[in-house]
Amino acid sequence: MHMHRSSSSPSFLPSICSVHTFIGLAVILCVYFTLQTSISLQDKSLPSEQIKTTLPSSILLPQQYDSNDMNFNEIPTMEQPPPHSNEKTILRSPPKAEILGLARDFDIAWGNGRGTFHDNGTLLTLSLDKNSGSGFESKNRFLFAKIDMKIKLIPNNSAGTVTTFYMSSNGSTHDEIDFEFLGNVSGQPYTIHTNIYCQGKGNREQQFYLWFDPTADFHSYSILWNPARIVFFVDGTPIREFNNMEEFGVPFPNKQPMRIFSSLWNADDWATQGGKVHTDWSKAPFVASFKNFKASSCVWSHGSSSCGSDDLDSESSGFENAWLREELDSKSLRKMRRVQQNYMTYNYCDDKMRFHEGLPKECTTKGSNRGRQSQFR
Ligand SMILES: *[C@@H]1O[C@H](CO)[C@@H](O)[C@H](O)[C@H]1NC(C)=O
Ligand SMILES: *[C@@H]1O[C@H](CO)[C@@H](O)[C@H](O)[C@H]1NC(C)=O
Ligand SMILES: *[C@@H]1O[C@H](CO)[C@@H](O)[C@H](O)[C@H]1NC(C)=O
Ligand SMILES: *[C@@H]1O[C@H](CO)[C@@H](O)[C@H](O)[C@H]1NC(C)=O
Repeated sequence: MHMHRSSSSPSFLPSICSVHTFIGLAVILCVYFTLQTSISLQDKSLPSEQIKTTLPSSILLPQQYDSNDMNFNEIPTMEQPPPHSNEKTILRSPPKAEILGLARDFDIAWGNGRGTFHDNGTLLTLSLDKNSGSGFESKNRFLFAKIDMKIKLIPNNSAGTVTTFYMSSNGSTHDEIDFEFLGNVSGQPYTIHTNIYCQGKGNREQQFYLWFDPTADFHSYSILWNPARIVFFVDGTPIREFNNMEEFGVPFPNKQPMRIFSSLWNADDWATQGGKVHTDWSKAPFVASFKNFKASSCVWSHGSSSCGSDDLDSESSGFENAWLREELDSKSLRKMRRVQQNYMTYNYCDDKMRFHEGLPKECTTKGSNRGRQSQFR
């Protein structure tokens, strides 16, 4: 159920159990220890609803749409207990009533009351009016994570507004992994804007339309950030992949811990139709909603990671930290290409006019680390 250190608990539990061969007592002790371990892990780990890292990747990346059309099915719930994992089912009880979804993992960072928790901290709304927007940020910092948030974007006329969900480090050479949702007038499509900054430098924009109305309901938006790649997902479907190509001289964010941020603000000088359509303040306040945050992560604190070097470097940690080595299988790659062919509206790797000195290296490098930044050549 939980991440990192949890890999140590299953290995010592069986030995305790075999010493106490008086069956009844042993079972009680095992259950007791299991619960204790579970509770202490829950206290240490950040997110309230961890993605089950024991899930095989085929379940984490479910078939989302019928390959004959672009109608995506409902994303299968990740709340179900994973297969082969009876002990995890025991770990799930007893529920800790005081653990409150988003309120446990995030602080409202700015907006003077415009960002608020609802329903005992399980739902968070950000709002924007003429005077201010609002934002929240994670309490913890991470060096690698797989995060997932359900977001319902501003309904009706959202022109001029930008809702963001991103990870970022600090300072002038910061790293950043961005989802930005650019609003539009009623009935016109939202734009999903993605970008990746390495050591203070961005300019890696890719933009997409969506295959559903993101204002009608909550949909899941995820970022996988592990040492080998960054992948953006929408409802479990990968839309963009950025591989670690350091061996070819392309920087990759893997040294600076990041926080998770989200914000809602006015950007009507550029966001919608190139700045031509301005925010209609008579429709304010504009509200975006967030819930069901999930994460598998390596929490960074006091200069060290909750994930050991074993977790990062070897296969020894098994399924517990599978997300740290997660890659897209051929089926997921096909889905991603399909989205890119049908819904991508801008790709920096195709913008030859912009990069006078040649396209960025990650766009043109082929070879061992499949250069998939550009899908269209
Ligand atoms: C919030 O928590 C209280 C106390 O546990 C409970 O009575 C109430 O039903 C909860 N409300 C919601 C919306 O979950
Ligand atoms: C959006 O527009 C529809 C129809 O114009 C209206 O019924 C609905 O209340 C509006 N929703 C919001 C949140 O303003
Ligand atoms: C940025 O720096 C400030 C002050 O040094 C620190 O409190 C904050 O946690 C840092 N944020 C990140 C994302 O590292
Ligand atoms: C808004 O709608 C217009 C017209 O359909 C479209 O050209 C544009 O890409 C959409 N998105 C933004 C952010 O302007």
